[in-house]
Amino acid sequence: AIAAATSSPLLGFSAVPTSTADTLVVPPGYTAERLISWGDPLFSGVAEFIDGGKNTATDQLKQFGDNNDGMSFFSLDEETAILVVNNEYCNYELMFEHQGQKMSTQDVAKAQAAQGVSVLTLKNGPQGWQVEKDGRYNRRVHANTPMAISGPAKGHPLLHTQADPNGERVLGTFNNCANGMTPWGTYLTCEENVHGYFGSQQSAHITPAQARYGIGTEDAGWQWHLFDDRFDVAKNPNESNRFGWVVEIDPQDPTSTPIKRTALGRFKHENAELVIDKSGHVVVYLGDDERGEHIYRFVSHNKFDPNNNEANKNILDEGTLYVARFNSASGGELSGTGEWLPLILGEHGITPESGFNSQAEVLIHARLAATQVGATTMDRPEWVAAHPTEPIVFCTLTNNKNRGVLDNQAINGPNPRANNHYGQIIRWQPSHGHHTDDTFNWDLFLLAGNPTVHQDIYAGSENINADNMFNSPDGIGFDNAGRLWIQTDGKYSNQGDFAGQGNNQMLCADPTTGEVRRFLTGPIACEITGLAFTPDNKTLFVGVQHPGEDLAGSHFPFGGNHTPRSSVMMITKEDGGIIGS
Ligand code: FEO
Ligand code: CA
Ligand code: CA
Ligand code: CA
Repeated sequence: AIAAATSSPLLGFSAVPTSTADTLVVPPGYTAERLISWGDPLFSGVAEFIDGGKNTATDQLKQFGDNNDGMSFFSLDEETAILVVNNEYCNYELMFEHQGQKMSTQDVAKAQAAQGVSVLTLKNGPQGWQVEKDGRYNRRVHANTPMAISGPAKGHPLLHTQADPNGERVLGTFNNCANGMTPWGTYLTCEENVHGYFGSQQSAHITPAQARYGIGTEDAGWQWHLFDDRFDVAKNPNESNRFGWVVEIDPQDPTSTPIKRTALGRFKHENAELVIDKSGHVVVYLGDDERGEHIYRFVSHNKFDPNNNEANKNILDEGTLYVARFNSASGGELSGTGEWLPLILGEHGITPESGFNSQAEVLIHARLAATQVGATTMDRPEWVAAHPTEPIVFCTLTNNKNRGVLDNQAINGPNPRANNHYGQIIRWQPSHGHHTDDTFNWDLFLLAGNPTVHQDIYAGSENINADNMFNSPDGIGFDNAGRLWIQTDGKYSNQGDFAGQGNNQMLCADPTTGEVRRFLTGPIACEITGLAFTPDNKTLFVGVQHPGEDLAGSHFPFGGNHTPRSSVMMITKEDGGIIGS
């Protein structure tokens, strides 16, 4: 089913070669400008970014957050728009003069302020789109912003804490990976690797469910639990259950309370690809980015009403969460059938006997319910993207060193390679053309690989060649014309299995012909993640995340000896045309 490369009518730009330079490269005829970087003040009277980690927590609360990731562009009128941007995490080696070696309460507060979401007012003028300092929508949402919990798990005892005995109010969001956008004007931010912020110096009783979510007494190095008891799993064992959700934010009201939508399940959320099915039901596709975890789908109970936003406001609170099972054809075919299995108390063995006493528990422990119903373990599901006009959906499976190694991750149809460090992109078509269909047909759109190193399946699929190769597809999204944009978060060693693949990059694919062409290369030690188009598709915002992580020697975007800073870049075509055309 994988087409060989041909000359696609959709791809009108010249391919960019791989690069190991400390810069962002776009094709001839395109311009890339910096829109905003980590630490830029959103309001007057707030300190500018100071190199070397010298800003305070108070500065950071009103500056653009760190490690920009998923983002959405909300068009208000010709001159005004809102760009909402996730701030996934931070790099202590760049954020503090002590590089994280001597953390304090104030340092933890700074790290908590650097994550979450930045809401930016954009103005369109002679210089194109620019961030408006003090713009009326400017806002920072961070790890201490008050939020509501809503949906079936609201109030469940597993969400109760001393500070919130009713389980309905929570402070903050963090590790905000990718995103989603609703037609009723709200933004969805997805909490991903939240487990790493919890720990304890005491011994704590860790339940099997906590263990499945990676919660334990060892944190991932954030050290929040040493200075903020909320993150101590011995003292506050339920706090971690309040993270790992999709959060809905109304960007047009800077005073609005973000809402954690529990009906969408709790796991390591990558993005939330929302489509309105032909039937009117809201369908949200969701990846759980961990080795051997799953792909999910939410279908709303009520139908979207394009003429009544008030009626859509809480539509994500009621519906059914499903998980995907991919059936493998015999003979190693890279295609097959599949089905969506509902995660409903009382069905498919989800019962008190198997550990589920309420629908709230099914959602809080969605991973355990998924295992119970026989979901397929995948190679780290990252972003999901639905085609703008055809009922076909793509998902990046970024890599999986455990495939073929661990017992629960044997090689299967959609995940055909052991020790998979290149990744693949799967796609599926609902059997009857509706996103609400419970069965589908799948195939692999591409297998990333390195044809200059390997001649076997690790060379990649037929549409991968020495000129367009890459590893670890992650961010994906469609433009209006149906071009599939692919961003990478891979190994940038440029050696061994990754020889010739250079820095992380962004490519563009024609989903019909299968052709893949490199559009952009990023600076040293960055990931390219986050994409948003203006409605006319003439401006593209792209995220450069963590350039120079691990002190790898980047000084992007300002060069010289400056501290490297995650940045949102704005790409236009010099002839004013549509990006990619
Ligand atoms: Fe935050 Fe799975 O990427
Ligand atoms: Ca990332
Ligand atoms: Ca990602
Ligand atoms: Ca990734």
